[in-house]
Amino acid sequence: MPKTLIEPFRIKSIEPIRMTTRAERERLLEDARLNVFQLHADDVLIDWLTDSGTGAMSSRQWGAIMEGDESYAGARSFFRLQRVVQDITGMAHFVPTHQGRAAEKVLFAAVCQPGQLVPSNCHFDTTRANLEHAGVEALDLVIPEGLQPATIHPFKGNIDLARVEALLQSEGARIPFGMLTVTNNTGGGQPVSLANLRAYSALLKKHGKPLILDMCRFAENAMFIKMRESGYQNTAVRDIAREMLSCADGATMSAKKDGMVNIGGFIVLRSDEWLDAVRNDLIMMEGFPTYGGMAGRDLEALAVGLEEGLQEDYLRYRLRTAEYLGERLEAAGVGFVKPTGGHAVYIDARTVLPDMPVAHYPAWALCNALYLEGGIRGVEVGSVMFGKRLPDGTETFHSMELVRLAFPRRMYTQSHFDYAAEVIAEVKQQAAGIRGVRIVKQPKYLRHFTCECAWVE
Ligand code: F0G
Repeated sequence: MPKTLIEPFRIKSIEPIRMTTRAERERLLEDARLNVFQLHADDVLIDWLTDSGTGAMSSRQWGAIMEGDESYAGARSFFRLQRVVQDITGMAHFVPTHQGRAAEKVLFAAVCQPGQLVPSNCHFDTTRANLEHAGVEALDLVIPEGLQPATIHPFKGNIDLARVEALLQSEGARIPFGMLTVTNNTGGGQPVSLANLRAYSALLKKHGKPLILDMCRFAENAMFIKMRESGYQNTAVRDIAREMLSCADGATMSAKKDGMVNIGGFIVLRSDEWLDAVRNDLIMMEGFPTYGGMAGRDLEALAVGLEEGLQEDYLRYRLRTAEYLGERLEAAGVGFVKPTGGHAVYIDARTVLPDMPVAHYPAWALCNALYLEGGIRGVEVGSVMFGKRLPDGTETFHSMELVRLAFPRRMYTQSHFDYAAEVIAEVKQQAAGIRGVRIVKQPKYLRHFTCECAWVE
């Protein structure tokens, strides 16, 4: 049998990439104030800023778009999607929203009270922000291995059950529900095992607390379980996904990931206890309950996308792609979060720029170098994103300096990955010439999106 795992699709419609020269990119990056978020996407060759909403839809999805029923109430497209979601999740109640953070906002507004506390393995930024906005403390309890880039563990997204148990005993009265992110994006796209999910669910149940999954990459998580957890090698990914969901009482979903669409999201709930409150908030914030924040055609594309996102040939190729880039980085002596996750590779910038002071933002500097060398856009997950300038002018820094390369679904071919591997290896060779940056202008919150930088002289 040939060893090469090919892309399990062929290309029907293409989008040209505009080639740029290094000299052009130098000017473009200067114009963007050394911040890749400020680049025009047309000036990027390989855009790995995010896997969210950026993937390619299939011909079946484009066909389904024409079937969209745009009726305000009771649209056929709603009922079609509802059937698919109920079948995959096993949950009775389906509430569409326009994307993941809207699902979070609607659910938390309906269910949470100020002063409460919600544990998870790691809350994604928007989940944390929505909880904190509702006056709720968001606590991350991932296992210690989940915070060590070089440590290999099959399920680095697992939650620390001993800490959960202690928390339920000491703070139980403040906890409305537990959450769990599958896969754990903030921790490197790492999966959670079914054993961990089941044990967490049982602990919560013992204390009368529901479990809400952040299921935006549930299909990738289910494939990891099939590949790594004993007893699941011969179970269909769809059945594993169903078993994952059977541990939960509800979930929030950003369909822009494993839903294989460019926009969309939803909430699912097993019982109707919270349903009236959720629907009331939905009508105010998103729309009527049979469309939420989506057009009828988006509901149709998602109904097809959810099924396609669970196809095993696709998932095997998807996870292999990240692993393949990891192998190429290993060969080039570039460190990264191991093992590679489902949707992204996180380069450890300290292994490329070991001598650069953290005050010169090595991960940001590496991000800029990847753009200059090869037109590749990643995202810094380091001290620009998570550090802060204090009122006295001093800075706090993040514990890790990572560059996330997140892969849009079904969009880039193996030669794009080979090209990227060459670019990264080249950047590593020329590391001595990479300049750090200083921040010359920054907003109060989320500074990485809009800050302006200058080269360190
Ligand atoms: N939960 C997780 C785990 C996510 O990764 C995201 C988005 C959301 C919730 C919010 O969903 O964007 O549809 O509102 N992650 C993107 C990323 C933005 O780049 O990782 P959304």
